[in-house]
Amino acid sequence: MLRINEINIRNINSITSLNLRLQPGVNILCGTNGIGKTTILDCIQYSTLPRMNPRMNPLRNNIRRTVNSSDSFYSINATVNEHEDDFFLDLINEPDFHASQEINRINSRKLIYLNISDRNQRTPLRLRINEEGRIRVMSTYDLIKRWFYRCYYKKKNMSEETFENLLLAKKVFNKLDPNVTFVEATEKYEEDYNNDMVKFIEIMVKTQRGTINMDFLSSGYRACFSILFGIIRHVEERYNIPVENFDGVVLIDEIDLHLHPEWQTKIVGILKWLIPNAQIIITTHSPHVIQNAEKGEIVPLGIDGNNNMFIRNLPESSEYGYQGWTIEEILVHVMGLNNPKSKVFLKKIKSFEEALDKEDIAAIKENYYALDSMLHSRNPLSTVLRIQAEEFLEEEEVGDE
Ligand SMILES: Nc1ncnc2c1ncn2[C@@H]1O[C@H](COP(=O)(O)OP(=O)(O)OP(=O)(O)O)[C@@H](O)[C@H]1O
Ligand SMILES: [Mg+2]
Repeated sequence: MLRINEINIRNINSITSLNLRLQPGVNILCGTNGIGKTTILDCIQYSTLPRMNPRMNPLRNNIRRTVNSSDSFYSINATVNEHEDDFFLDLINEPDFHASQEINRINSRKLIYLNISDRNQRTPLRLRINEEGRIRVMSTYDLIKRWFYRCYYKKKNMSEETFENLLLAKKVFNKLDPNVTFVEATEKYEEDYNNDMVKFIEIMVKTQRGTINMDFLSSGYRACFSILFGIIRHVEERYNIPVENFDGVVLIDEIDLHLHPEWQTKIVGILKWLIPNAQIIITTHSPHVIQNAEKGEIVPLGIDGNNNMFIRNLPESSEYGYQGWTIEEILVHVMGLNNPKSKVFLKKIKSFEEALDKEDIAAIKENYYALDSMLHSRNPLSTVLRIQAEEFLEEEEVGDE
């Protein structure tokens, strides 16, 4: 079992200081670009990697001492198999971060990190070289499809746990979209652009229009597939336990990447269904993810004038979290957007108000009509504007209502 309880950071990347307590279930970090969300996830992962030559460590370049700072370290309080302990990493002292010694690492591999570069389907992750010495580029999506086929369809003597995970994996297709069901997975050889015979994995799914190759499903579907199957794969390969028993930590950077708002509203719910016993730490820029979170799951990060990161004091939400708030209310009051209206709209509103003050009839009309055409047809503000402008409009211009 692994739970990250608390992280303290000093002078790493953009974070001058941070004290962050996390809850054992879901933690959704949100905050402006560059505030340090990815840095937090990177620090957590880095502390669980086995000690290795820093030059070989893929995260070496992600965790840096803040420029012009004198000390730089972070510590994590975690519970590993019921024991709570503190883990430190002193960057100044790390050989590759300019000097000597690292104190303690979390000795548990129970951590899954899906960062953006890993799961972006368009990022070729691995290069495979075939017998002719030709290079083939594989994306995360390709790799996961191959693993799915290899693990569940080529495996002889499947264990009970693997079989259970296969049933779960099949359910994921449908969970993502109730109109999609898994049909079969097969391998097939085809010529590629080099005229080499290359193995392709075909996963066929039933949709409302008939059975198709899942490659033709939307990129949002495939992005979710990569996230969820990435988790199943990790648990299956490392532990061979039923996925629902996984009690480690799952870190996902920018969970909403590539997803249509409709997917953004349900992805966290699906994660909770898939890994009910894991601690989930994710980052997002999506008001839809925030809207669908439960009370206590949102961690709104802010930064003060001295670059210290803090947890913003949000307006009280009810026992339902922000599930009753509109997207606009979340953008402004949770995500800290100054104003969710466009600049053009705000300028017109200002001109309209100025024209009303001056009783400048021509300007009132001009701005009123511009605003009226700009607003959504059912926006109640239209009525308010009309009432304000009414006395300056000709009778036929006021309309019936
Ligand atoms: N050595 C350094 N010293 C000071 N600041 C740094 C250093 N290295 C990186 N930064 C800053 O750290 C920030 C990167 O933080 P990070 O990628 O964690 O942000 P983020 O919250 O994940 O942003 P986004 O939402 O865009 O993904 C950037 O603003 C960058 O300018
Ligand atoms: Mg980031």
